[in-house]
Amino acid sequence: MPRNPSKLRDHFEAGPAYNKPAEAEGAPHVYHFNLCWHGDRIGSFAAQGDELRWEGYSSPKYEKLFTQRPEDGMPYFLVNMHPDNKLFELLEQDEQITYIAGGLRYLCNLVISRNAPFDLPVMKDRLQTDFDRYIADGTFIGAYTGPFPNDNGEDLQENLKEYWRNRYVPRFSGAEVKLPATLHEFGVLQPAITTPFTHIIKFPTDSGKEGWGFNEWMCLELSQAAGLRTAKHALLSLGKDKPPAVLVERFDIPHNARSEDHNWFLIQDFCTLAELSPDERGRGSMEQVAKVLRQHSTNPQADLEDLYRRTVLSVAINDGDMHRKNIAMLFEYNPQKEQYVNVRLSPTYDVTSEIWQYDSEQKQTLSVQGKTSGIKAKTLIAFGKTIGLSEDRAHELMEDVTSRVAARAVEIARNLPQEAAKYEACRFTANRIATIAVKAAGHFGGSAPAWENVEAPKATFKMVNGQKTFVIQP
Ligand SMILES: Nc1ncnc2c1ncn2[C@@H]1O[C@H](COP(=O)(O)OP(=O)(O)O)[C@@H](O)[C@H]1O
Ligand SMILES: [Mg+2]
Repeated sequence: MPRNPSKLRDHFEAGPAYNKPAEAEGAPHVYHFNLCWHGDRIGSFAAQGDELRWEGYSSPKYEKLFTQRPEDGMPYFLVNMHPDNKLFELLEQDEQITYIAGGLRYLCNLVISRNAPFDLPVMKDRLQTDFDRYIADGTFIGAYTGPFPNDNGEDLQENLKEYWRNRYVPRFSGAEVKLPATLHEFGVLQPAITTPFTHIIKFPTDSGKEGWGFNEWMCLELSQAAGLRTAKHALLSLGKDKPPAVLVERFDIPHNARSEDHNWFLIQDFCTLAELSPDERGRGSMEQVAKVLRQHSTNPQADLEDLYRRTVLSVAINDGDMHRKNIAMLFEYNPQKEQYVNVRLSPTYDVTSEIWQYDSEQKQTLSVQGKTSGIKAKTLIAFGKTIGLSEDRAHELMEDVTSRVAARAVEIARNLPQEAAKYEACRFTANRIATIAVKAAGHFGGSAPAWENVEAPKATFKMVNGQKTFVIQP
């Protein structure tokens, strides 16, 4: 390992930066791409300007696999493959076409390039080791020497930009600052460039989000407490004076590092599955999500209960960001049988609590029984019945989830992992989440341990030196 990996450009070949070809006579350049999944060519498409055109599947067996655009059979996840991160703007890859052309590796072992499958990433993405072995007290205890623990905000952006210029760096979208990483055998964690992308590092940002890494970690713990399958996670220390990041294990890649005999995973979120564009991520209702879930799931009863748990969790911790791209289904394909053997609600990921909001401001993104705020016990019960649960079962789940979440939240707040206890931002986050969860248990018929509420302080965003800054009023 390099001794000081925090300066990426010193030891990684940046690879060719992507340059957009000149446009001939005003007509946008036509690009041709192959789409490969686990090394098999699925089909090809052309891209011109902001139009994508499907050119056909390589074999009829692949035609049934994806939610497809009706006009031309284009897999919808491709239509929806957009950068939605400031970083890609900085890289001048903020248009869909430059984003696709600038990359190579995408989630789920998908490869897109002109020469694929010959133009392959160096290695297939698959887990390399047992994450649990390198977690103690909720915190990653393997070796992580960067990049970035010593960089300040500006350097972080600059370094990430440099890193992402490399075409081999896996592309995946989302709003927060993230780094694809490899957890190697013996617990060595490094950025993924030529190595398998197994984990995601999500960095906390400032302006009121210093505790965001811890926030997501705690909410993932609460998802687990709610009885949901949840992405494996750990706090990641970023060195002194910096609240931790959250390290999340991918659930869309093979788990066995060696066996070639494995199923292939495909994530399709509820934008893709509902044939909506990413801009419409906040549109619609949980009832619509449930309907789509029922159409695809190989175990609809269990999945509808899980979707119900996920909804109760979101209300109970004030997760204001449960939009259609933050909930998804995981499709598990068996290449020998040439069919999906399991299609289920995916493990929970990207769940956070809006700790700065007052109770009166709590709001869901997708509606529940027509409501995004003022959701009451009877709203949740009515929702449960609409999606096919019995009234008794809806009650039972609501009470169970809110009780377990409150109990676990208080337990975490009272026994913070050492890595979090050091930081005021984390202590405050834990106290706020526990307060929200305990109140929710009260509203939704659950039970909660004794707890002294910590309320959101009066705080606002102000412009300081031309920067939007979070300021707590005394
Ligand atoms: N643990 C995971 N395994 C596989 N894919 C994931 C996992 N977590 C997130 N993703 C995928 O990556 C995308 C971005 O991650 P997310 O955690 O939602 O980041 P952001 O906070 O930036 O929105 C998600 O929409 C999802 O498709
Ligand atoms: Mg997200």
